[in-house]
Amino acid sequence: MNTPVKSSLTSTSTDNVPNVSIAVIFHSNYGHTKRVAEAIVKGAHQQLPASQAKIVDVHDVDWEYLDQADLLVFGSAVYMGSVTAEFKTFMDETSKRWYHRTWEGKWAAAFANSGGLSGDKLAVLQQISLYAMQHGMNWIGLPLMPTGHEAHDLNRLSSFLGLMTQSLDGPPEETPGPGDIDTAIWFGDHLAKTIIKHQPASTKS
Ligand SMILES: Cc1cc2nc3c(=O)[nH]c(=O)nc-3n(C[C@H](O)[C@H](O)[C@H](O)COP(=O)(O)O)c2cc1C
Repeated sequence: MNTPVKSSLTSTSTDNVPNVSIAVIFHSNYGHTKRVAEAIVKGAHQQLPASQAKIVDVHDVDWEYLDQADLLVFGSAVYMGSVTAEFKTFMDETSKRWYHRTWEGKWAAAFANSGGLSGDKLAVLQQISLYAMQHGMNWIGLPLMPTGHEAHDLNRLSSFLGLMTQSLDGPPEETPGPGDIDTAIWFGDHLAKTIIKHQPASTKS
């Protein structure tokens, strides 16, 4: 396995602050997917300081932050059973990084938000996982057993490849519902714990 890229953004970390960083890259037209991205970052902040876990809008990409991050979490609204055109544009913009193996060995994870209960979110998670494999990244799934299938339940959509959330026709403050948002927070916390646990000794200085 390749060594995850060391983040120079965290070079001022103290001994008890893990020397890893996370970027949550998303596309959201109406704010629902953005709210999920924010919840993932909120969960990551249970393990890491604010400067080491951030959301990144595909319309305003901080490429330096992405290149230095240890984990890239990719998320898109589902359009016609696929990532959105804007998210695909972001994916295609990384082709030079694919060629130069810039992200090889980094961690990767994904989330998908859509209006349908299924909505073909699995196709999006598969699309993003294939993209991450093309880059030579190491995948982290969602190892969380569903607590049930009601609005307050964790992983109520029973997804394990990555995080699925569902938004109805309402404001992002109300939908996705509490179970989906709590699952996103759990996912962010789990992702941060995972990369901290597997942090190579060489990056701990
Ligand atoms: C062009 C278009 C295509 C869509 N296709 C799907 C789809 O295939 N499956 C689904 O469940 N929802 C679909 N939706 C609903 C979106 O997934 C939903 O509005 C979106 O996730 C909301 O997220 P956002 O607020 O972050 O933009 C579609 C919406 C639009 C506008």
